[in-house]
Amino acid sequence: MKKETEAIRKQTERTQYREHSSPIFLTSSFVFNSAEHAKAIFDEEVEGHSYSRFGNPNTEEFIEKLKYLEGCEDGFAFATGMSAVFSGIAALLNSGDHIVASRSLFGATHSLFTKIFPKWNISCSYVDIDKPETWENAINPNTKMLYLESPSNPGLEIADLTYAGKLAKKHNLIFNIDNCFATPVIQTPADYGADLVTHSATKFIDGQGRVLGGAVVGRKDLINQIRIFARTTGPSLSPFNAWILSKSIETLSLRMERHCFNALEIAKELKKNSEINFVRYPFLPSHPQFELAKKQMKMGGGLVSFEVKGGVERAMKFINNLKMLSVTSNLGDSRTTITHPATTTHSKLAEQERLDVKITQGMVRMSVGLENYEDILEDIFQALEKSK
Ligand SMILES: Cc1ncc(COP(=O)(O)O)c(C=O)c1O
Repeated sequence: MKKETEAIRKQTERTQYREHSSPIFLTSSFVFNSAEHAKAIFDEEVEGHSYSRFGNPNTEEFIEKLKYLEGCEDGFAFATGMSAVFSGIAALLNSGDHIVASRSLFGATHSLFTKIFPKWNISCSYVDIDKPETWENAINPNTKMLYLESPSNPGLEIADLTYAGKLAKKHNLIFNIDNCFATPVIQTPADYGADLVTHSATKFIDGQGRVLGGAVVGRKDLINQIRIFARTTGPSLSPFNAWILSKSIETLSLRMERHCFNALEIAKELKKNSEINFVRYPFLPSHPQFELAKKQMKMGGGLVSFEVKGGVERAMKFINNLKMLSVTSNLGDSRTTITHPATTTHSKLAEQERLDVKITQGMVRMSVGLENYEDILEDIFQALEKSK
């Protein structure tokens, strides 16, 4: 069956009640048929649920769908995107290991690499996402992982996945990519050799700004280690959130088509506006990596970043004059959301670090929702006018 069909039709085994929609298995633990059955499950001699920190039918249904969409062998569901990012690395790397990562990263991932991992002597070297020819120079004998985000948050820069896959293979590195902005509807990094695909499911996978969630899918041997780490440290996804996320996957491809259609129309209109200095959208021909984006992405994604004329004051004034768009730092929602990265998601970076990843003081990041794009544009134009 095609991926869209599988995303809808994959489901936990029907119970004796013959339900059509998957039930929510809101239970902390599972009963055993006997003491011997409990022992066999704990000894992993037979398959079966024991405790929801280890696994639950809802989290497993969610992972079944996601790993299928990403074309990966296995996966584990996490309570948040950040616990997925953290566990996917902490489970596999040891003290003394080194990561090569693109500097264009989500703010909390940057803090993880620069403030948390160094506590355990795991170091990281940053490279420029748009200069793949420089990546190899950053690889040391103790480098274990290549970590990328593409498109990046919020600069919408693109990593060359073909190059990354080949480089990781040549140096025996674990190629780990945060695919949250693209989703598997737009790109499947495992096709390029990614060993792990990391997600914040809080974004487009949920798609309605309701729950937090995350996942790592990828190579079976690596996921096994991540599963053991996560079962012990406890960042597992709740069954309720898993149920929501699994249901959301049923509509993911349909939603992504509309997000991307709207985003492209809006990006094209903003590009013509004289109150805007620049617009960044992967499928706009003016994007410096337009050709690469076209090569490896099926659509341009739901995010558009742009810089209003007049710096930080104008950007704030513009945001304050919006009537319909939601001023919130989440993204991937059915409602269009807007945020000012320099003072929110990326405020922990130094000014030069922000500029290195293309975040200027006047830049706003918009996650284009599913509304009629003309209404979104109307709100943007009236706020631009009032903020003059
Ligand atoms: C690219 C990216 N990765 C990871 C995360 C972290 O996800 P969560 O907020 O679900 O922990 C985010 C959150 O905004 C993100 O944008």
